[in-house]
Amino acid sequence: MSIERIYVIGAGLMGHGIAQVSAAAGKQVTLADRTMEMAEKGKARIGANLARQVEKGKLEASDADELLARITPAQGADGAAGHGIVIEAVFEDEAVKRETWEALTRSADPDAIFASNTSSISITGLATSTDRPAKFIGLHFFSPVPVMGLIEIIRGLETDDATYDACRNLAEELGKTVIESKDMPGFLVNRMLGPFINEAVFALMESTGTAEDIDTGAKLGLNHPMGPLELSDFIGNDVMLNVMDVLYRGFGDPKFRAAPLLRQMVTAGHLGRKAGRGFYTYDESGKKVG
Ligand SMILES: NC(=O)c1ccc[n+]([C@@H]2O[C@H](COP(=O)([O-])OP(=O)(O)OC[C@H]3O[C@@H](n4cnc5c(N)ncnc54)[C@H](O)[C@@H]3O)[C@@H](O)[C@H]2O)c1
Repeated sequence: MSIERIYVIGAGLMGHGIAQVSAAAGKQVTLADRTMEMAEKGKARIGANLARQVEKGKLEASDADELLARITPAQGADGAAGHGIVIEAVFEDEAVKRETWEALTRSADPDAIFASNTSSISITGLATSTDRPAKFIGLHFFSPVPVMGLIEIIRGLETDDATYDACRNLAEELGKTVIESKDMPGFLVNRMLGPFINEAVFALMESTGTAEDIDTGAKLGLNHPMGPLELSDFIGNDVMLNVMDVLYRGFGDPKFRAAPLLRQMVTAGHLGRKAGRGFYTYDESGKKVG
């Protein structure tokens, strides 16, 4: 049976995108954040995305209005009753997520599915902060959500088949391709991406090549749209360091140790595009200038 009402909690970069693609698929969406103002800001971001599409002639203004009308901003975790699924996209902080899930457990219907968009925290572990580990799952969207075609679905140790099937069906309704991962550190995509970027940082650190040559090598030699160092700057060098630390701790395997240069850059505040400085330098609009 298809899920018609979706509660998205966390209206930031990921949450507003998840709400947008859900409403675009005809779902009724409640978009919640810590305050009503933040939830409304998330909805306004969707409005701005849609306005750009209307300007480019990719979307009718009336369709944009209808899509927006399907999204209701809300405050906090108390309003989840009456929704078939809750998708959580709050900060990547285990304590914050656990507290949020405890509150959602109190307000959501007993048969609602609980999905976390976490990039790195164990789904099996988060499920223990709820009353329904069998109905708890990972739905890992990629940024920007309306553009990226993938959803990685992560089954916790206790996730049941009905929950997986309902989420797979929902992901397909949202127009996404699904890959399925067991609940292992980094799941599938970050487990591949982390070591790839990390190895590029080691090569730079050891002066095997320049940043430009490492990135050009990946772009023209491997047909990647972005080189690993520019991609790390784009994602955030702090986020990539966290991915490596999660892999290293989770597997206890030295092959996942973070490159010392990556850690040093994070310590120095060279976090990438958002900080104006990383492996490259950026102007205020985020354009690469050096
Ligand atoms: N940024 C990415 O590329 C990306 C990709 C995949 C998954 N994720 C995951 O998605 C989640 C959200 O990341 P983001 O990049 O959207 O972060 P973000 O900081 O842009 O947004 C997080 C939002 O959650 C809200 N929030 C925090 N605590 C809350 C609470 N207790 N109740 C309600 N709202 C709360 C914040 O106010 C904020 O608006 C994280 O788990 C992250 O790991 C991020």
